[in-house]
Amino acid sequence: MRRREFIQGSLAVAAQVALPAATANAAPTLTIPYGAAVRGDVLVDDYNYRKALIDHCQLIVAEGSMKWESIHPTPDRFDFYDGDKLINFAEQNGMKMRGHTLVWYAAMPEWALAIKGANQANSEMSRHIETVVGRYRGRIPSWDVVNEAVADEPTASDYLRPNVWLENLGKDYLATAFRRAHASDDQVQLVINEYDIECVGEQYKRRREALLRIVRDLRDRDVPVHAVGLQGHLRGELEIDKHALSEFVSQVKAMGLDVLVTELDVTDNLLPPDQQERDTIVASRVEDFLGAIFDAARPTAIVTWGISDRHTWVPMYFTREDGRHNRPLPLDRNYRPKAMMEVIERFTRTTG
Ligand code: XIL
Repeated sequence: MRRREFIQGSLAVAAQVALPAATANAAPTLTIPYGAAVRGDVLVDDYNYRKALIDHCQLIVAEGSMKWESIHPTPDRFDFYDGDKLINFAEQNGMKMRGHTLVWYAAMPEWALAIKGANQANSEMSRHIETVVGRYRGRIPSWDVVNEAVADEPTASDYLRPNVWLENLGKDYLATAFRRAHASDDQVQLVINEYDIECVGEQYKRRREALLRIVRDLRDRDVPVHAVGLQGHLRGELEIDKHALSEFVSQVKAMGLDVLVTELDVTDNLLPPDQQERDTIVASRVEDFLGAIFDAARPTAIVTWGISDRHTWVPMYFTREDGRHNRPLPLDRNYRPKAMMEVIERFTRTTG
């Protein structure tokens, strides 16, 4: 399958970039690409940010630049300025880029939220996917096609999150999105991406069941879907359900799909103030999360939602009451690796 060769080919490049010279000649190590979400404005402004990405990543993803409201702000205008900037940076530095995201309830411009009727919904969704995937055909080996399809609190009869597509096309919107993406670039790993899959509790259990149900339904209909993306926005105060997560990954694999980690970070607003204590808890949550996944399968990539605590979305929603900075990511505000980075490196560089 060419898609797999593509990903493995990228590993050879990745290994040269990531491994120190001493290990580069050793017996081949099967590395898993590590990557981070990137902001276009910071990329231009901050030399240390660029350097950190080049030093640590084999992969980047746009934190916002390829979302609908950025890339397709009005019906007749596609804006690829930021997306092109990011992919050029990636390619100039031997990295790959993931695409995020084609179909999502959020980050939608007003005009797209006003879409009415099955015909219009079908044609606008198809035009969007064909244009965006087509623009980067052959350059983006993996796309988040549908993001966050599962209802916040799913029930047996009501398990899909409402959005303009569900409203106008019913649950067929999922199949349509994947089919259009496949038709636009048949070499791309097509991903269904979801959050709140990994913790202990009834709501997480229901969310895992709902996601498996969606994937099974797509597979039964021969819809081209290749992987489940686990966002991995972990909560420092919540325990990972390691057994249930491994079981979930096994079930995904049994259906013939891969898994990958797409947006890893650890929200730390409820953790103790002491830095070292906080970093240790953050790293141990990541260890539990990745350990449970690896117990069932090797993910095709591990991506964190940002690389440094200096640039993270976490304080937009989870500021600390003591006024201290959040520390959700692998590098600190001065781009120094924290315990979380050591855990990630251990998992990405395992031989296998
Ligand atoms: C977030 C970005 O990080 C923020 O900067 C933006 O304002 C809102 O979106 N799940 C996703 C991501 O799939 O796209 C979201 O990114 C975080 C949650």
